[in-house]
Amino acid sequence: MNLHEYQQLVDSELDRLVPSEHTPPATIHRAMRYSLFAGGKRIRPILCMEAAHAVCGSFCGALPAACSLELVHTYSLIHDDLPALDNDDYRRGKLTNHKVFGEAIAILAGDALLTLAFQVLAQLDIPPGRKARLVAELAGAAGTVGGMIGGQVADLEGTGQPPDARLLETIHHAKTGALLRASLRLGAITAGAADAEYEALSCFGEHIGLAFQIIDDILDVEESSAALGKTSGKDAQQHKITFPAVHGLERSRQMAEAECTHAHLVLESFGEQATGLHQLADLIVHRKS
Ligand code: IPE
Ligand code: IPE
Ligand code: MG
Ligand code: MG
Ligand code: MG
Repeated sequence: MNLHEYQQLVDSELDRLVPSEHTPPATIHRAMRYSLFAGGKRIRPILCMEAAHAVCGSFCGALPAACSLELVHTYSLIHDDLPALDNDDYRRGKLTNHKVFGEAIAILAGDALLTLAFQVLAQLDIPPGRKARLVAELAGAAGTVGGMIGGQVADLEGTGQPPDARLLETIHHAKTGALLRASLRLGAITAGAADAEYEALSCFGEHIGLAFQIIDDILDVEESSAALGKTSGKDAQQHKITFPAVHGLERSRQMAEAECTHAHLVLESFGEQATGLHQLADLIVHRKS
């Protein structure tokens, strides 16, 4: 399956999972769908399905769990863009959610996407033990201790502070890495991975998770707003702690490549079933948006 086919599959499942625009109260469903279908790359759900494929040679019914990651991710973007956080006007090539629907509805749309993600997992037709592990993993990755919210807090509190390499890695592992690692883990759990497979996929997730945010920081410096679909140059303007700010552009790119190399190595035992994951690792480091 190529990337576009994957994206279509994810989009049609998300369309099935999210209440229609006409379901009352219509405003909130319009707001949720506005950001969800604005054209995200769907990297997290695709990683999840490819992790399942690495374990069992097919997607093993991982599609709904994969979509739960995109629901949480889209919520995190809506809130990340709010005036109280990064204060961004554009996302995924469109005006940000709060610019169109107002701050109150944007906050609620984020809340609603987060809540729906756990409803989707709760309704999966899989053994209860496996379901509980999926819920715990996603909650941890989105949470405060080493998870996305913890990382966002460290990002906010680090803003304007002197560049610090250790703090930088902590921020990136948490704010972006945790959900990317969870993407691999949800696929592994759904597919019934053995402990060694779960550990290898987690390790792959950590490497590509860090690489992903290093590249996001680089793209913010190098690419245009039109290419990114979000305002570029914001990190320097807001004095964020980023890889280019701490290590410079060239070294940052080398560091992302090194993470990618490690990621490839940990997949060795999966053989050809992990071809898709190898391709995704390269895509993450060589993407232009
Ligand atoms: C952007 O994520 C925010 C980060 C965590 C760096 P993506 O680059 O995956 O954004 P979309 O989903 O394609 O819009
Ligand atoms: C966002 O990091 C991480 C999230 C948890 C959403 P950024 O603030 O760098 O993401 P962009 O650049 O706005 O997409
Ligand atoms: Mg941010
Ligand atoms: Mg931001
Ligand atoms: Mg960024």
